[in-house]
Amino acid sequence: MKKQNRRSFLQFLGRTGIGLGAGAFLVNLQACTPTEKPQNPETKPSDPRPFPLQDMQHSLEDKLVLTNGLEYDILIKWDDPISEKDKFGFNNDYLAFVPFDKNTPNDGMLWVNHEYFQEIFISGYNDKDKSKKTKELVDIEMYSVGGSLVRIRKNDAGKWEVVHNDPHNKRLTAKTEIPFHWDEPIEGSTSAIGTFANCSGGVTPWGTILTCEENYDMFYGETNRSDPKNPFRDLDGDYYGWSQHYDYPPEHYGWVVEVNPLTGEAKKLVALGRCAHECATVHQTKDGRLVVYSGDDSNDECLYKFISKEPENLKEGTLYVANTTKGEWVSLNYNEQKILQDNFANQTEVLIRLREAAKLVGGTPLNRPEDIEIDPITGHVLVALTNNKPKGDYLGEILKIVETDLEDKTSLTFEASTFLAGGEDTGFACPDNMAFDPKGNLWFTSDISGSSVNTGPYLPFGNNGLFMVPSWGEQKGKVIQVASAPTDAEFTGPFFAPDGETLFLSVQHPGERSKDLENLTSHWPEGGSAQPKPSVVCISGPALSDLMKGAS
Ligand code: FEO
Ligand code: CA
Ligand code: CA
Repeated sequence: MKKQNRRSFLQFLGRTGIGLGAGAFLVNLQACTPTEKPQNPETKPSDPRPFPLQDMQHSLEDKLVLTNGLEYDILIKWDDPISEKDKFGFNNDYLAFVPFDKNTPNDGMLWVNHEYFQEIFISGYNDKDKSKKTKELVDIEMYSVGGSLVRIRKNDAGKWEVVHNDPHNKRLTAKTEIPFHWDEPIEGSTSAIGTFANCSGGVTPWGTILTCEENYDMFYGETNRSDPKNPFRDLDGDYYGWSQHYDYPPEHYGWVVEVNPLTGEAKKLVALGRCAHECATVHQTKDGRLVVYSGDDSNDECLYKFISKEPENLKEGTLYVANTTKGEWVSLNYNEQKILQDNFANQTEVLIRLREAAKLVGGTPLNRPEDIEIDPITGHVLVALTNNKPKGDYLGEILKIVETDLEDKTSLTFEASTFLAGGEDTGFACPDNMAFDPKGNLWFTSDISGSSVNTGPYLPFGNNGLFMVPSWGEQKGKVIQVASAPTDAEFTGPFFAPDGETLFLSVQHPGERSKDLENLTSHWPEGGSAQPKPSVVCISGPALSDLMKGAS
């Protein structure tokens, strides 16, 4: 099959970036995620040059260590001002850069997820008993999560920088009112207060951001329906204790949220269901419809695919859950499934209680499905399965889904197999966020939890890392470690600039195991006795420039 080149891709976006369907944002931005058509990898040209990136040693240093030929600059840190009134939030995760225009690939909006926070750094609260946490402290914490919109551009010295005080710069927080994109109210309301637990995400073909609310139960708990006649708010997972001051329903969280990066306007996409959404990865069919993949990151939870009924419409369509044993996408449409009609009142309830519905129709429990990416060369859908310790899966794997309809991905059958398994031979454990660079090389991060690093089965792996899998050259298909994270941190949100010569990367939760400010486990990035600060870095260097000249 013929591969779309970058130029035709941008021309294609130019056609689809305007004239949007009802409810879509009027965004004149250019999504820059490659969506090239799959081609036979055997047709790729060979390249005699040595591959520019080499594997590095694991590290246990409190540093961001890079392989030869790469370097990094800090783009923005927690608490940095972005405007007169707003500051950058905590624990940056997913990143998406959307240029203002196809002719200005080095100037645009960076969206940053702020997933969660550590109380000692934000409110200073340091007690397991949350009952003494005041409303004033909760308000401070509520500002630290959600997302940031920041204009960034490349300066004359070739470095990316934040445009401070740009009128586009703004914050979404746990206080922002966000409407539901749905015809029926959700738990009695047409809007929710706030977004939080924003983990990974995606970009639509019309340049809006999809940000995913993952571990939402840490904030207002979850509704327990074990006795269907007496549902109650279960605060077991309510780590932060916000619900003693704000009585917001758990059902208002756990959604995929669409954000217009120019205005900050947002809406919660009910049609994609409610769970611990890790990501929302969008593919566009030949006739313009959308296929959105999303994982529910928890032990024994499922993989989902939404197929829109019409182009540019993320409200009407069908949500499916994967049965990976049979290789089938099973409909979660209330009208098509008697078992759903027997257990739920309507489609809205199915979407709110997605996990229960998915199990009823035969969704396969998976080992923490996290990020999902579509290989631009092969068309295969890759799903990071991080681990499942209770089931004895400590090291995780990357699952490969080959849709029967490789190009459009609207087929309801597929083949699933292991693409890469964590282990000492591959050199990684616990895969999480992934990204393809413009040359079709796979990059991914690892997420070994802070308390597990350098212990038990994780001893061989050092700190969390950034890895890549070459699409060409003598190391094609092998795993190369290219970066190691500071103490307690994980890398998240890898996202390439349009020219592929910069990788934007989040460094999340350095020093996470610090018990208090006098006993810090990390001082990254400022060093000395400084507090650790989650930050976004720009990775570049001659090796990345060389890589972008490589076979494609
Ligand atoms: Fe927020 Fe599943 O990582
Ligand atoms: Ca993740
Ligand atoms: Ca993770």
